Amino acid sequence: MKTIAAASGNKGKLREIAEIFNGYEIVPMQAAGFTGEIEETGCTFAENALLKARTVCRALGMPALADDSGLCVEALGGAPGVYSARFAGTHGDDAANNALLLQKLSNVPAEKRGAYFESCVALIFPDGREFVASGRTYGKILPKAQGSGGFGYDPLFFSEELGKSFGVASAEEKNAVSHRGKALRALERQLRENAEGNRS
Ligand code: IMP
Repeated sequence: MKTIAAASGNKGKLREIAEIFNGYEIVPMQAAGFTGEIEETGCTFAENALLKARTVCRALGMPALADDSGLCVEALGGAPGVYSARFAGTHGDDAANNALLLQKLSNVPAEKRGAYFESCVALIFPDGREFVASGRTYGKILPKAQGSGGFGYDPLFFSEELGKSFGVASAEEKNAVSHRGKALRALERQLRENAEGNRS
């Protein structure tokens, strides 16, 4: 099985990447020996995913996979978007981020609470090959948390495709419709096509 370093320190993301991209051995970047900090300076999910994967691939000399993702809320003009992890100020404080989201939407009626998650994934090889794919999943922001499963904004996100929140969905249910599931399956298709192209 091919080994790939995952350019992320987010436990929820790492678990989902390993579940979805299960044809590969996914090793978290720290476990693979990456000790640096990566500043996410990009303005788009794609820029940040490429930045993270290139940095880790270059440092470790092995294939590196990054996911940059976030929640885009219609009533907030697409925010928090690329700032989803640090919406309330501290990187990765899910409770504070969720509280701020609820506060900002407190006067917004149900029909205007549309939102989507987006994920952009980048896989970089030491020989210079770069693959990028993205996925979206649509829904709306609930007035209060439903369930405690998943991570990040999951308990507040009512999935259109599942008819329930990501906070009550099983891992299999979420991965089947999620932005990350769609992006990683598209990436896998690109890798297969590339391998087939090289053979013919
Ligand atoms: P990143 O590490 O900069 O890509 O930040 C991603 C942030 O977006 C996470 O910390 C979460 O706040 C949010 N996010 C991305 N994907 C998900 C998901 O699948 N469920 C819930 N929140 C997510």
